[in-house]
Amino acid sequence: MTESGDNAVEIRLAERPHGEPTMANFEIADVDAGRPGPGQALVRNTWLSVDPYMRGRMSSAKSYAAPYEVGEPMTGGAVGEVVASNADGLAVGDTVLHQLGWRTHAIVDTDNAAKIDVTSAPAQAYLGVLGMPGLTAYAGLFDVARFAEGDAVFVSGAAGAVGSMVGQLAKLRGASRVIGSAGSAEKVRWLTEELGFDAAFNYKDGPVADQLKAAAPDGVDVYFDNVGGEHLEAAIGSMNLGGRIAICGMISQYNATEPQPGPRNLVQFIAKRITMRGFLVGDHLDARPRFVDEVAPLVGDGSIVYSETVVDGIRSAPQAFLDLLAGSNTGKMLVRV
Ligand SMILES: NC(=O)c1ccc[n+]([C@@H]2O[C@H](COP(=O)([O-])OP(=O)(O)OC[C@H]3O[C@@H](n4cnc5c(N)ncnc54)[C@H](OP(=O)(O)O)[C@@H]3O)[C@@H](O)[C@H]2O)c1
Repeated sequence: MTESGDNAVEIRLAERPHGEPTMANFEIADVDAGRPGPGQALVRNTWLSVDPYMRGRMSSAKSYAAPYEVGEPMTGGAVGEVVASNADGLAVGDTVLHQLGWRTHAIVDTDNAAKIDVTSAPAQAYLGVLGMPGLTAYAGLFDVARFAEGDAVFVSGAAGAVGSMVGQLAKLRGASRVIGSAGSAEKVRWLTEELGFDAAFNYKDGPVADQLKAAAPDGVDVYFDNVGGEHLEAAIGSMNLGGRIAICGMISQYNATEPQPGPRNLVQFIAKRITMRGFLVGDHLDARPRFVDEVAPLVGDGSIVYSETVVDGIRSAPQAFLDLLAGSNTGKMLVRV
């Protein structure tokens, strides 16, 4: 063991949000970094992931992931460098991916920290394009929505970490048309001019159904839903015969305090033989080797473009999370510790 007793910072859940989260929901605490016990390593985190699913874990409602506890540090994806180790297989200087984010230092063991290769991609890429969001896009598009060459694809939240991958993967595998929606003119420009989307629109500019019909005059075969609500109803209205919908997220409803009305046009499922399936990336970890084999070279040679929105400093992490929900990120939202 070479280092211990560092001054460390962790972000705790101070209180559960009602509706939109605020800074009052978080507590920034100065703590001791601690010492790794037998079989453990101390990691100095370098990058933290902030993700929409964390909004769900701030609530006490039962879901697929346990709620964060009030007064306790929050968790999430992180990468960092091993600075002290009593763990076989984790050496000082190794870069690891683990789930003890929202803090500057983490004590991990070999079961919950994976060494990553930072010679082929920067460490933070394992939180985004080559990490959980990338795999979510890959598994959702190919395994859940069963994308086939020639399909027309619509993705909402298209300028985010998941959505930007969905559109590019569909293009690279031979989509006939890729349409994205996002929340600003600059994001729309990025999608069409830099990512190769055939069409994109700002959902704040007018009814989604009208804008989608104009952008996809021949309809949509696959809808990858990151948003829910009005977007889902619009997509159903534009689906072609045999259309498939992958429900990845419904961010438009994460802050809702009352149950939200469903799409009013579900009757269209019958004649159009639409299928709709929800999924969790955690159920598709078997796809990871396929995903890495196919996508890592495409990222390496620039065929897949990715963007990161970087916020500096652990103390900025709560604001980064609020900004993510408000749409200030293009691509993956990250905190550089
Ligand atoms: N099922 C799974 O296993 C899984 C795994 C990862 C992520 N997800 C889901 O996938 C979605 C995207 O996640 P991500 O990590 O890639 O996040 P992200 O898209 O990078 O960031 C969230 C984005 O959501 C948009 N947004 C916020 N409120 C909105 C609203 N009311 N209507 C429309 N758009 C809104 C914002 O962009 P705009 O400027 O465009 O509004 C914001 O940038 C989320 O719904 C997330 O929960 C699911």
